[in-house]
Amino acid sequence: MKSIFSRLLVTYFVITLLIIVILTSAISFMYKTIVMEEKKESFEVIAKRIEILTEKYTAGTMSLEGLNSAVNGMSYSADAMIYVIQIDKDSFSQGKELTYQGVTDKFVYEDLSTVLNGKQVFRKNEYSQKLETYVVYMGYPLKIKTEIKGAILMFCPINNINQNIMKMNRILWSCCAMIMLISIPIIFINSRRISKPIEQVEKAARSIAKGEMISAVQVPSKDEIGMLAHSFNNMKDQLEINDKIRREFIANVSHELRTPLTSIGGFVQAMLDGIITVENSREYLKIIRGETNRLVNLTSELLDITKIQSGVMKLNIEEILLYEVVAESILILREKADSKGITISILVDKKLRVSMDRERLMQIFINILSNAVRYSEIGGQIDITAKEKKHLVEITVADTGIGISEKDLPFIFDKFYQSKNHLIPEKESSGLGLSIVKNLVVLSGGNITAKSKKGEGTQICFTVNKVEG
Ligand SMILES: Nc1ncnc2c1ncn2[C@@H]1O[C@H](COP(=O)(O)OP(=O)(O)OP(=O)(O)O)[C@@H](O)[C@H]1O
Ligand SMILES: [Mg+2]
Repeated sequence: MKSIFSRLLVTYFVITLLIIVILTSAISFMYKTIVMEEKKESFEVIAKRIEILTEKYTAGTMSLEGLNSAVNGMSYSADAMIYVIQIDKDSFSQGKELTYQGVTDKFVYEDLSTVLNGKQVFRKNEYSQKLETYVVYMGYPLKIKTEIKGAILMFCPINNINQNIMKMNRILWSCCAMIMLISIPIIFINSRRISKPIEQVEKAARSIAKGEMISAVQVPSKDEIGMLAHSFNNMKDQLEINDKIRREFIANVSHELRTPLTSIGGFVQAMLDGIITVENSREYLKIIRGETNRLVNLTSELLDITKIQSGVMKLNIEEILLYEVVAESILILREKADSKGITISILVDKKLRVSMDRERLMQIFINILSNAVRYSEIGGQIDITAKEKKHLVEITVADTGIGISEKDLPFIFDKFYQSKNHLIPEKESSGLGLSIVKNLVVLSGGNITAKSKKGEGTQICFTVNKVEG
């Protein structure tokens, strides 16, 4: 009883059954009421006709035989026993006259005082001892020239009426059973149609929780359940993608950490074993310091990415002079650029202000510029330009370096992505720089793109919010 299917099944079944039973009972009741009303009306018509005939008889224009045969005729056609009794109110109390006239039933006797007072009485279901059956009965005052002279009593055995009602009931209830028989498979199919996809989704969710690979849930309908299955499939795909990204990320991080750690471990072991002498050790300790610096940088870069992506990194937005930040960033890279004979020109309006986190904007510039310096041959040129575009400033860092191949270009903003090139040994970079840059730009509400041609240079273009006025 706990499954949705059985709940739906029982609910639909009970509702359908209730509706059908209530409707059928109402129709049956209405039919019975109508039949009784008709009987009552026909008794009234008969009583009025008998009244006219009795008036004729007392006026002497009709014989007793004539009256009797007319009453008998009506009795036959109405399937009823009809008594016309002339009775005086006073002699009624003695009751003898009635027995004489053949009316012995107690209820008739009880009703007579009402009838003789000018009111008609109608009973729908009364046992008549004289007729030995249940009857529908009417007592009607017999008026002759506005004076009540007696009563017209009409009895119709109820069986005759009930037979028709029962016939009608039989038809009604068989219809009811038929509707129920037809609805049961419909109810069953419909309940199954609703509950099955939910069951499928639930089963799939359990498999995912266990870490199993599953295929998409197939629900062809376009209703809410179809939408649920669709969303579920999307979620499943996204989970799989996330899982793949996470696994790749861990593999990359492990690889990146492993290389410097192995070389540090190797040098230390060599020193301990005496392969590297104390006199030579200074050279190797420098290498070890370089490697540890690289590890520190790498871990702080990884921390930055994690902070941005998990929404922990908060920006300290302020109004800053763009020129100042660019100049400061270049200062940090000056030595490296000079050693390669690379000229850097800032083509930025000195008054241009942007709304940005100062530290983070520097981080962006240092990353992009260090790439531009690193991936340029001796004597290269780097131009930094800024263009105002509505409420944004579009900043471009263009170099005349080695460029990026078409194959690599779409991936340079991915974590750990490095294209192979002759200028730089792979182990000196981690492939995290542009990933951090993109995350920072997007976090600050901008976007970033790269244009490049192998051998001709690269342009990295990103937007920041402008300070108006
Ligand atoms: N200005 C550029 N000219 C040519 N190639 C570039 C340039 N900028 C980036 N690339 C290519 O894009 C790749 C990704 O750059 P990214 O800055 O993310 O990593 P990285 O420079 O290799 O390492 P990291 O910056 O973490 O030390 C680089 O390996 C390089 O191949
Ligand atoms: Mg870089």
